[in-house]
Amino acid sequence: MLGGIQIGVLAACVVLFVPMGMAGYHLSRNRMLFFGGALFITLAVGVHLTPYFPSVSDFVSSVKSVVVYDNREDSCINLVNEVVWDVKPRIISSKGDGTVDYDKIWDWSRNGKAKGCDFAKLGRGDVKDLLNGSWIVVAGDSQARLTVQSLLSLILDEKRMAMIMGDLYKKHSDYEIVVDEIGMKLDFVWAPYVVNLTSMMMGFKKNKTYPDVLVMGAGLWHMLHVNNASDYDVALENLRSSVVSLLPFSSELDMDGPVTGSVSVRSPHLFWLGMPILINGMLNTEEKREKMNDEMWHAYDSVLHNSRLLRRYGGPLLLLDIQSLSWNCGPRCTVDGMHYDGAVYEAAVHILLNALLIESHQKLGSS
Ligand SMILES: *[C@@H]1O[C@H](CO)[C@@H](O)[C@H](O)[C@H]1NC(C)=O
Ligand SMILES: *[C@@H]1O[C@H](CO)[C@@H](O)[C@H](O)[C@H]1NC(C)=O
Ligand SMILES: *[C@@H]1O[C@H](CO)[C@@H](O)[C@H](O)[C@H]1NC(C)=O
Ligand SMILES: *[C@@H]1O[C@H](CO)[C@@H](O)[C@H](O)[C@H]1NC(C)=O
Repeated sequence: MLGGIQIGVLAACVVLFVPMGMAGYHLSRNRMLFFGGALFITLAVGVHLTPYFPSVSDFVSSVKSVVVYDNREDSCINLVNEVVWDVKPRIISSKGDGTVDYDKIWDWSRNGKAKGCDFAKLGRGDVKDLLNGSWIVVAGDSQARLTVQSLLSLILDEKRMAMIMGDLYKKHSDYEIVVDEIGMKLDFVWAPYVVNLTSMMMGFKKNKTYPDVLVMGAGLWHMLHVNNASDYDVALENLRSSVVSLLPFSSELDMDGPVTGSVSVRSPHLFWLGMPILINGMLNTEEKREKMNDEMWHAYDSVLHNSRLLRRYGGPLLLLDIQSLSWNCGPRCTVDGMHYDGAVYEAAVHILLNALLIESHQKLGSS
C-alpha cells in the first residue's frame, strides 16, 4: 500500500516532468536549460519533503554544495588571469649612470567580477600546505624554467635557492628536486618542442603514473627553428590527443587508458604556460628578429587557440596567461624582448596556486 505522501510525490512528478520531458524533446537545443529547470524542481520538491525523509535531506544538501562550488569554479577560474600591473620608476635608487630601476608591482584586478573571487598571493606556509605531498612536473622551454625558479623561491629560503640555481640553470637539461619537509617532488623537464611534451605524455602513459600538477608550454623554439604555424598546429593536435587519451577524466580513456571505471581516480591539474609577447626590436639576434616577427607570433597564437588544447576553447589545459602578463608588464620588464623579469613568472605561479585552490575546493565539495 502506498501512503498519501508517496502518491502525492508520484502525482507531482507526473504533472511536472511529463510536460517538461515533452518540451525538452522538442526543444533539444535547449537541453541544458531543461535540465536546469528539472534540477530546480527536484530541489524544490525535495526541500518540501525534507522533513519526512532524512535521507532526502542529505541528498539535497550534497547537491546544493556541488551546485554552489560549480558556480564559483565557473566564474572565478575564468578570471584568475586578470592581473593588473603598476610599473614605475623607483625614485630613491636610480643609478648614477642614467639607467633607472623600475618597481614592478602586480595584483589581481579589484574591479568587476574578479573582486568577488578573493584571489590572493599565497605566503610560504600556505604554499607548503597546498603542495604538501605533491608531485609537480613543469615541462617546456626557458619560460618553464623561469616559472620553476619562481615556484621554488616561494618554498625554499634564499640560502637554499642560491644553492640550487646552478643546477636549475644547467643549459638544456632536466632538473629534479625533492623538498623533504613537505614531501614534494618537482621535476623540470627540458622540452623545447611540443613533440617533446608529447613524448613525455607517452612516458607517463607507459609508466602508468602521472603528476598531481602538470605545467607545459612550448612554442618559441618551433617558431625560430621550424617557423611554420601549420606544423605547430599538427604538433599541438598530437599533444592534445595524448593528453586526452591519458587522463581518467576523459571519455576516451575507457577504450585504452591505464585506469578504468573508477570515479575516485585523482585527475592531475593541467596547465598550459602561454607564450610571452615578443618585442621584436629587443630580440638579440638578426635571425630572431626576422623569423619571430609579429605576423608569425600571431599565426602561432591563433593556432594555439584553434587547437582546443586550452580549457577556454573546450580543451583540458588551463592557460597561465604569460601573454597578457608580459604585455601588461611591458618593455620595462624584459631585456631581450623574450625572457621577462621574475615578477611576470611570479604572477603566473600565484595564478597557478589560486587555480589549484579553486579546484581543490571544488573537489572537497563534490566528494
Ligand atoms: C604535510 O602532510 C603531512 C601528512 O599529511 C603532515 O604530517 C605534515 O605536517 C605536513 N607538512 C606541512 C609542512 O604541512
Ligand atoms: C625534442 O624533440 C626533438 C625533435 O624530435 C629532438 O630532436 C630532441 O632530441 C628532443 N629533445 C628532448 C630534450 O627530448
Ligand atoms: C618512466 O619511468 C622511467 C623508469 O623509472 C623513468 O626513467 C622515466 O623518466 C619515466 N617517465 C616519465 C615521463 O615519468
Ligand atoms: C609546414 O608544415 C606543414 C605541416 O607539417 C607542411 O605540410 C608544409 O609543407 C610546411 N610548409 C613549409 C613551407 O615547410
